[in-house]
Amino acid sequence: MKTVGQHFDEWAPSYDAQIREMVPRYEEIHDTLLSILGLRPPARVLDLGVGTGYTLLRVLEAFDGASVIGLDVSDEMLDRARQRLSGYEDRVTLAHSDIAEPEISGSHDAIVSVLAVHHLYPDQKRHLFGRLWEHVAPGGVFVLADYFRPASRRLLELYRLPEPDAHEAEHDHPDTTAEHLAWLTAAGFSAVDVVWKYEDVGVLVAWRADRER
Ligand SMILES: C[S@@+](CC[C@H](N)C(=O)[O-])C[C@H]1O[C@@H](n2cnc3c(N)ncnc32)[C@H](O)[C@@H]1O
Repeated sequence: MKTVGQHFDEWAPSYDAQIREMVPRYEEIHDTLLSILGLRPPARVLDLGVGTGYTLLRVLEAFDGASVIGLDVSDEMLDRARQRLSGYEDRVTLAHSDIAEPEISGSHDAIVSVLAVHHLYPDQKRHLFGRLWEHVAPGGVFVLADYFRPASRRLLELYRLPEPDAHEAEHDHPDTTAEHLAWLTAAGFSAVDVVWKYEDVGVLVAWRADRER
């Protein structure tokens, strides 16, 4: 079985053409993410699982003063992100890094992740959320757009989701929104919520308080 990195290395050349077919509301997800960041325009943004860089392109276009960091485990995806963001070189850092063992430093006004964290197991997600809280600046925000496991089999019937293919069965580990909200709260975030959801795709938000009690 291929690793996640190998899978995305192979998918990278056709990823941009396919993702909007697989996730028809991909643009709406990004509009939501940008609206949340716009509440307090960020100067420093970290993207976990940056892929081909579309999210960071939207961030760079929306916030003139922002500098961004993107992490990913696939070098082929990182190469495409580098090409896509080449007009913004002085504001962009891209690095190979596994978010299961995140190499995060410094303080970020916003940390974002789109369609990547569901590749982690529950324990890894809990560990990641704890690390993220340490690296979100007070008053800053973590925005998680991802797949979430429906809370009941009845919802699976309602959504009529396709059966997972071999790769998805091996590497996709979506958990429910309720589990994510509980883990984010346990990690220290002071206000967590679901701001957008369509079937099994959603956008969660978690703020770090301005001042710790
Ligand atoms: C479905 S793509 C999403 C890419 C991009 N965020 C977007 O919205 O189009 C998932 C990305 O997460 C990356 N990824 C998966 N597991 C990862 C991990 N453990 N650490 C870092 N990146 C990971 C993959 O290589 C891939 O680029």
